[in-house]
Amino acid sequence: MLSGKKDHLMKVGVLASGRGSNLQALIDAVKTGRLPVKIIGVGSDTADAAALARAANESIPARAFPPALFSSRLDQERSILFWFEELEAELLVLAGYMRLLSEHFIRGAGCPIINIHPALLPSFPGLHAQRQALNAGVRYSGCTVHFVDAGLDTGPIILQQTVPVYEEDTEESLSERILREEHLLLPEAVRLIAAGKVRHNGRKVLIERDA
Ligand code: GRF
Repeated sequence: MLSGKKDHLMKVGVLASGRGSNLQALIDAVKTGRLPVKIIGVGSDTADAAALARAANESIPARAFPPALFSSRLDQERSILFWFEELEAELLVLAGYMRLLSEHFIRGAGCPIINIHPALLPSFPGLHAQRQALNAGVRYSGCTVHFVDAGLDTGPIILQQTVPVYEEDTEESLSERILREEHLLLPEAVRLIAAGKVRHNGRKVLIERDA
């Protein structure tokens, strides 16, 4: 089990590089009581990321870690880890964080790290997943929440949601359809983890369904 202590709100840290709509979905789910966790900090590699402003609006500690301010990637990652360690994060969520994390970061985190990806992994990892799906001519795409390993979108899959792909779709229309599902899937994955309902068995993730 990854967590699940009674009466304890799991402390969740978030990393985001951009607009932060997935972060907002988490914040909203917490505010409405659907997601009983505490978002303890939002970090970004981009100083002017809208995600940081969204966090600040909610009085959630927000901090930028722009790579240019650090002597190396290791140094930048250490600084992020140290911050989340101080905040006592028990789960890290990559919500549109556009950097690959090193093995050092993943091992050093001391807590699970999950990511949301806008495709049905293992298809279409990496950048422009929606464009990749359109170019491949698939009839269905969707989104995936997975544990993070050192590969590019290769970690064990926790939850997936499909959406149809229409012949008239553009990258924009498909992205919007997928994003709507991302905003439901990510809070649900965090809820399941916080409730102690998610277990690893090698690459397979076992989820205990709600009673
Ligand atoms: C989402 O599509 C997410 O799946 C991908 O990056 C995008 C981030 O969007 N990893 P937002 O910043 O959460 O609005």
